[in-house]
Amino acid sequence: MEIQLAVFDLDGVVVNTDEFHFLAWEQVLLDKWGIRHTRQAEELTKGIPRYTCMELLAEHYHIDASPEELRRVADEKNLAYQNLLRTRLSDKQILSGIPETLRLLREHGIPTALASSSHNAPFIVEKLGLKFDFCVDPDSVAHGKPAPDIYLAAARRFGLPPEACVGVEDAASGMAAIRGAGMFCVGIGVPAMGGGADAAVSSTDQLPGVFGALLGLPPALNWAAGFSAALAAPAVPTVGTTVRRLSHMAGFFGDQPAVRALLERGEDPVIYEFHELAAPEHPGDLSFGITTLYPGGIGGECYMTKGHFHRELDTGEVYYTLRGSGMMMTENMDGVVRWFPLSPGSAVYAAKGFAHRMVNTGDEPLVCFFAYRADAGHDYRTIGISGFRRRVFRRGGKIEIEAAHTHTKEEPQ
Ligand code: F6R
Ligand code: MN
Repeated sequence: MEIQLAVFDLDGVVVNTDEFHFLAWEQVLLDKWGIRHTRQAEELTKGIPRYTCMELLAEHYHIDASPEELRRVADEKNLAYQNLLRTRLSDKQILSGIPETLRLLREHGIPTALASSSHNAPFIVEKLGLKFDFCVDPDSVAHGKPAPDIYLAAARRFGLPPEACVGVEDAASGMAAIRGAGMFCVGIGVPAMGGGADAAVSSTDQLPGVFGALLGLPPALNWAAGFSAALAAPAVPTVGTTVRRLSHMAGFFGDQPAVRALLERGEDPVIYEFHELAAPEHPGDLSFGITTLYPGGIGGECYMTKGHFHRELDTGEVYYTLRGSGMMMTENMDGVVRWFPLSPGSAVYAAKGFAHRMVNTGDEPLVCFFAYRADAGHDYRTIGISGFRRRVFRRGGKIEIEAAHTHTKEEPQ
């Protein structure tokens, strides 16, 4: 399909306001009937209109009240919820991968719309500074989800046939609405895994990859899928994945105002991720994996990994580059600095006693395979406190390596 419009549900797709719903129910149930609300009971209410929620909770807590009274309390809950939105809503409620997805769509000129049944939707996106080209008014459609009306209204607004649109939902009723509208359905989470979506993902983190594929971009790298190992029984090989975003390493970049500005705008790009076949930390075993370091820079400084010494200082490591271009920056405790180019097919040995960090100086992801002694351990603190002695910049296409003037102030993790 050629995608021309992306339509999103709000709660559970773009933001997570579950905690506010819980707190609001907790408050009204306590005020009105002295009931201590539980997380377990809250499960009954997920994705359900508030009057129905109230009926379910009345049954669960054996509340004896007239239908009118229940409706009044449900309305009070909504006021409490809106109050929490006004006072407590922040970037924390934006689900991971959403800013990247919206940016990707914007960069490719694909308009976006919001199809939420909630009247609070315009307030939420406005307060969070999320930019959608259109927000369907739920009162403007005759039937709510699972009817397709709200999704069809979004397509109509842009004069597009539903077949050119992609809808994104986490709840079964929402996915039914998208399918009923004849759109391509991207489903998130458990309901989607059970079927009913054209593309199912386990979390919003994967949405940039899904939209990347729909836009015809090269498939996301998933080298970890090829890992296997015959470990001594009873150990079962597991692939551990670590994703590091800017906020996880904000103190590592030299241009701190630029870092703060990005984070304040709600932009928290993924800098790198690594997948590791975690062998038990036994002497004689090897750990191996793949690191994908994305292209980009902050204030001209190239994206890099945090970098570390091994806890067992006298432990070397091999890096073999599969894709992309960059360098391996290393230095030892005596201040000896060495760096090596990384390009497809090159193998680099990070010598024992040297802290090592990958730096991406190119325009595509830099992907390296690594292998090291499984019980080497990692010491992020020693190099994290002082910072590496060299920083790598790309300015006007030229790579420049400079002595570092600043030192990392933040406690490394
Ligand atoms: C393991 C190793 C690599 C890195 C990975 C991420 O010893 O060197 O697996 O762990 O490239 O970099 P850091 O660990 O510096 O965040
Ligand atoms: Mn290492």
